[in-house]
Amino acid sequence: MRLVLSLIGILSAGAAFGQQAADAVAPEAAGVGAFEGMSPAVMAALDTKAAGSPVVAQDWMVAAANPWAVEAGAAVLKRGGTAADALVAVQAVLGLVEPQSSGLGGGAFLVWYDAASGAVTTLDGRETAPLAATPRLFQDADGAPLKFFDAVVGGRSVGTPGTPALLAEVHARWGSEDWAGLLAPAIDLAEAGFVVSPRLAGLVADDAQRLSSSEATASYFLPGGDAVQAGHVLVNQSYADTLRLMAEGGAEAFYTGDLARDIVGTVQGAANAGVLSEVDLAIYQVKERAAVCAPYRGHEVCGMGPPSSGAVAVGQILGLLEGHDLSAGPQDIEVRRLIGDASRLAFADRGRYLADSDYVPVPVTGLLAPAYLAERARLLAGDDALPEVTPGKPAFDHALNWADDMAIELPSTSHISIVDAQGNVASMTTTIENGFGSRLMVGGFLLNNELTDFSFASHVDGVPIANRVEPGKRPRSSMAPTIVLKDGKPVLAVGSPGGSRIIGYVLGAIVAHLDWGMDVQAAVSAPHAVNRFGTYDLEEGTAAADLAEGLGALGFEVGTQALTSGLHMIAIGDDLRGGADPRREGIALGE
Ligand code: DON
Repeated sequence: MRLVLSLIGILSAGAAFGQQAADAVAPEAAGVGAFEGMSPAVMAALDTKAAGSPVVAQDWMVAAANPWAVEAGAAVLKRGGTAADALVAVQAVLGLVEPQSSGLGGGAFLVWYDAASGAVTTLDGRETAPLAATPRLFQDADGAPLKFFDAVVGGRSVGTPGTPALLAEVHARWGSEDWAGLLAPAIDLAEAGFVVSPRLAGLVADDAQRLSSSEATASYFLPGGDAVQAGHVLVNQSYADTLRLMAEGGAEAFYTGDLARDIVGTVQGAANAGVLSEVDLAIYQVKERAAVCAPYRGHEVCGMGPPSSGAVAVGQILGLLEGHDLSAGPQDIEVRRLIGDASRLAFADRGRYLADSDYVPVPVTGLLAPAYLAERARLLAGDDALPEVTPGKPAFDHALNWADDMAIELPSTSHISIVDAQGNVASMTTTIENGFGSRLMVGGFLLNNELTDFSFASHVDGVPIANRVEPGKRPRSSMAPTIVLKDGKPVLAVGSPGGSRIIGYVLGAIVAHLDWGMDVQAAVSAPHAVNRFGTYDLEEGTAAADLAEGLGALGFEVGTQALTSGLHMIAIGDDLRGGADPRREGIALGE
């Protein structure tokens, strides 16, 4: 049945780029089969995704990385709850069923469109470095940067979690339902047990050695010493207890008291101990920041500014591309040359200038200024790949003399897009950084390793790096939760996991939709070709891999590999259309 549907979908998909849609990534078969027996609406959404078609609805929609989480959010939206309410319900379930990617022990960024006021704003729930952290946190006794996983696993990498405070803030500002009620589905599922998905089981098996480094983590994910299997029903009583505590005591119950003491004890008592303290937890604050918006083909593309590099980088790349006609499509080498070199130019600036603007001056306006982008865009005038790419010199009031950053990022993270019946839009990317974060577990959730998003080196030849570790500072992110507006009204909500490839994934989905006319499902399924200022990464087994020869001939260094985005995209027009990334287990659901 699904095979037939997917063939029909392939035959009918993608008006403008039917051939590319046919080459798009197919849903993971095992991922689709894992949710057999869920509600008819979920099963229909899985079938629609397998067919390569967008889910269509009239009033509300939610798209996220796991059907159980989407179902919890959909129940809220169906009974008239706001996108803020639904976000709480979705995140609470994601922390249970997709624990490797996001949860209470991590951080998140939200971009919010408020239907009543027509305003877009952002909330920063990023983790902070402990007050006792120094720029040498990730260096050995001689000042040499640690190896990545030597830094990740254990207490050292754990920043003060921001997600619980973010959820409470979102709910206080824009929620309409009872807070405790929004946590109830996750509590019930944690106590009844959830069926381990093939994706989670596979990731546990791959990471078994690191997961066994801590007792609490090992006993949950490797019961009796063996990795949990797909189909196994996993109960998480500690998570239910934590959510109950928060249902009664709000986020306060997370940041103070017994749970806070347990978190600190776990971090400080771990091998590779960290310096997180109860004070760090008690003073944690969510920050509201102005959305960073950039124009593109009559739209405003709005997202998360510093400490994320997401909106600045996506906005710069779009600004560099604006003067070029990309309509020749995704298989055109000239189009890919432009996107690749525009990305390299943006990543050069990102590496030098982007960091937590509460700690270092960041030239956001200068980096997005039309005159600056026009000057940088002149570099794209040739026919070949740029032989060398260096950061530019954006206008700024401060002296800027930073060395280039050297942070490393690897997979986990999740993106949630929601539109409610009142017209509010939420676009939130949420993470514990690496898959399974620091591998430390407390209260039924994993603690992040977000501090490894800081640069491990603090200086180069005596010149400081903007994204070096400093007490209380937020590590630079690439997360790019985005809302695209046209004439002041939201038309798209999109975002993805993928470390620093997030920027290329989000950019690619926006270009696929706006320039290539792909519907949201085709846009999120489209093969990836992303450049982060190094190799031009092409998605293996897709049409993007066919670009290798042509791009190589222009002088790009080219590599082919799996590129596991997790794009969740909703288009808002006369109706709502949702797309869920076929590379992960999620769905879009609406009515
Ligand atoms: O904030 C960031 O940019 C990273 N910590 C996100 C990590 C991530 O997306 C891993 N993805 N697959």
